[in-house]
Amino acid sequence: MDGNGRWAERQGKARSEGHIEGVSRVKDITTACVELGVRYLSLYTFSEENWNRPASEVAALMGLMFKSIKKEYDTLMSNGVRFRVLGNRQKLSPALLAAIGELEKATEKNEKMDMLIMLSYSGKWDILQACRKLVASGKSDIDYSDIDNALVTAGIPDPELVIRSSGEKRISNYMLWQCAYSEFVFTDTLWPDFRKENLLAALEEYTKRDRRFGKIK
Ligand code: IPE
Ligand code: MG
Repeated sequence: MDGNGRWAERQGKARSEGHIEGVSRVKDITTACVELGVRYLSLYTFSEENWNRPASEVAALMGLMFKSIKKEYDTLMSNGVRFRVLGNRQKLSPALLAAIGELEKATEKNEKMDMLIMLSYSGKWDILQACRKLVASGKSDIDYSDIDNALVTAGIPDPELVIRSSGEKRISNYMLWQCAYSEFVFTDTLWPDFRKENLLAALEEYTKRDRRFGKIK
């Protein structure tokens, strides 16, 4: 969900204003995905690398996360959304962790859509923590499925479609293992301007893709 900062700067606003607007789009797009029958929606909310931003911006983003968690219970329940946070939890504050745990527990039986908040996440970190887990388990004959099951996304299907907003055309350390055969749609639209129409356009493009997974027809 890229482009919050640029959206704000273009309007002479503080970057944090862009992040606030970005949260509204998360609400809209989550609802749209439920309506469209999307089963898993992952949102790259904050990367491991984002910890290197100025402390004030990190604090604003974490504060926004905390506030949103406290506010969204009703919407998630009425939409049948299971809320899950995936990422390096060691870096999150105890207060935020408690709020996350509460909402995860409260929504764990919802089955319409899983909303995966990728927070303090990076693909390399995910692979690293999976390796550490496997080493600790003492298992020596490692297979693909062992790695799948050691990643934080264990049990969740690989992304079929990855949408990146704001004109950047890179993966930026997102689900590196899981995106091996994902389809990518890049849009110049900044995240705070991303509407249901943009989502529909991306899905339309996805339906035209010929997914061969390295095979031939
Ligand atoms: C995405 O918007 C939100 C986060 C990474 C938390 P940015 O903050 O990256 O916005 P730009 O790239 O500066 O426009
Ligand atoms: Mg950015």
